[in-house]
Amino acid sequence: MMTASGVAGGLVDRFVMVAPTTAEPISLGMRTNDDDWTITSGVGRTALLVALGRALESRRSDALIDDPFAEKFVAAAGEPDLLPDAIGESARDNPAMARMLDFLVDMMAARTLRIDEAVVDANTERCRQVVILASGLDARAARLPWAPGTAVFEVDQPAVVAFKDTVLAAEGAASTSTRVGCDLRDDWLTALREEGLSETEPTIWLAEGLLPYLRGADQQRLLSTISSSAPVGSVLVFDTAPAGTELSGFDTDATVDFGVDVADLLFESSEFDAQTCLTDQGWQVTGDSIADILAAHGRGDDRDDAPTAMARAVCLSTAYRAR
Ligand SMILES: C[S@@+](CC[C@H](N)C(=O)[O-])C[C@H]1O[C@@H](n2cnc3c(N)ncnc32)[C@H](O)[C@@H]1O
Repeated sequence: MMTASGVAGGLVDRFVMVAPTTAEPISLGMRTNDDDWTITSGVGRTALLVALGRALESRRSDALIDDPFAEKFVAAAGEPDLLPDAIGESARDNPAMARMLDFLVDMMAARTLRIDEAVVDANTERCRQVVILASGLDARAARLPWAPGTAVFEVDQPAVVAFKDTVLAAEGAASTSTRVGCDLRDDWLTALREEGLSETEPTIWLAEGLLPYLRGADQQRLLSTISSSAPVGSVLVFDTAPAGTELSGFDTDATVDFGVDVADLLFESSEFDAQTCLTDQGWQVTGDSIADILAAHGRGDDRDDAPTAMARAVCLSTAYRAR
């Protein structure tokens, strides 16, 4: 098990689009404090890519997860080159891309499975309220077997929420959550309160694939806001990985294969450590690396390459509000 000090705050999904090389360190800081995006642009595109990972994993005969909505979201984005068959075809002639695709699928399998398990456990035991921050194309609200009376809230940028609304409505999916279009650098808590969030109810909070896309100060504010609204018994699941500067060994050009320039999505590296911050605020934090989770499910990987190293470094943490 990785403990609170296992890894520094960093990146997860942005890594899936890069490949090992001896290239120059990537330049960071193309983001701005008030930038926004759609499902196919900027940070929004990462939601599409992780949905692609879940779609490809769901197709495997030995799949660890089954997300029937993932492929629908990818199809609705209107980019034929991103469809699972097409991307598999492109990767066939591009070993670096194929390796990244492998890593994406493995990471999404491990991450989705572990978070699903944590959510179902906490929901069964005590938490009847769920807040999915940076919900992107996460279909848990529709996929998981919620205990009766569970309220699910989802927050993401307005255009991402609108895309999700449209696709789920077209699929005839029952409305199982309250979706809020809001920037998580703004006053998202007020927006949730207005939608009926209870701050006395033990709650499951998810921040999957989010922290890497926030500045250190914004991560700190977000976690403190959660802490201020999460009574004892609440659970927060989040992922972290090495800081941006540690990406200097990876070729961001490979990201272009997935239609995004990863360097544009990163803020400058920060020393912020989410695990330590939460421990200081009364949470008990434990975690496992993606590699450990995969190995526990027979998907171990001893390749000596950058994706394997990243799978060992990326940590999926569960924080329990003890006081
Ligand atoms: C890699 S995706 C993860 C989506 C989802 N959690 C999942 O794992 O499928 C990152 C998500 O974070 C959202 N996001 C990042 N920064 C945000 C911000 N400041 N405000 C709202 N959403 C944000 C993006 O719109 C995108 O949906």
